[in-house]
Amino acid sequence: MRLIYAPASPFARKVRVLAIETRQDGDIELIDATGISPVNPTDTVTRVNPLARIPALLTDGDELIVDSRVICEYLDSRHNHTPLVPQGEKRWQSLTLAAMAEGILDTAVPLRYETALRPEQLRWPELIDCQFNRILRTLDYLEQDAATLGEQVCIGRIGLACALGYLDFRFDTVDWRTGHSDLSAWYSEFCNRESMRQTAPY
Ligand code: BEZ
Repeated sequence: MRLIYAPASPFARKVRVLAIETRQDGDIELIDATGISPVNPTDTVTRVNPLARIPALLTDGDELIVDSRVICEYLDSRHNHTPLVPQGEKRWQSLTLAAMAEGILDTAVPLRYETALRPEQLRWPELIDCQFNRILRTLDYLEQDAATLGEQVCIGRIGLACALGYLDFRFDTVDWRTGHSDLSAWYSEFCNRESMRQTAPY
């Protein structure tokens, strides 16, 4: 399989963490599309994915699979270890956590473009404030149950760790840890996993 990714992409990081956790990383050739952005779609990506988004996976049969959630599901269907997209009673809790994490990233990545790429005179400060507030409100919500996150690994926890990692990577002046001590403690512990170490963004 071939994965079009960028080391900075938190969406691609989710896929890579899941691949390492399920011991499939050796089956995946990584193709680095660093430099991709909404204003620079890059041929490496558009040749494969007309949406110009990463990650994009090409299977061994050259079939295109897009959207990190779909790629994670695909990879999770290909191994014989404990599924990371759980079935049964844990499924909805895990998928809801994954969706919350996705919402943080769906907000944080455009915010990054808004604050780093968009010319200053075209920025909309009210939108930027509202987007940061959406992220902080979601962290407040997740903090309520963060003490129960424990040591398990699942698609929701992987998503959450990648979302928090992206905040540290791109918004290091935003002190998300204050007021979120249980989330912060859980994240520190989760970052010790080999899968998180190997996929640290740059
Ligand atoms: C970033 O540089 O922050 C980034 C790169 C690719 C995808 C998403 C984010």
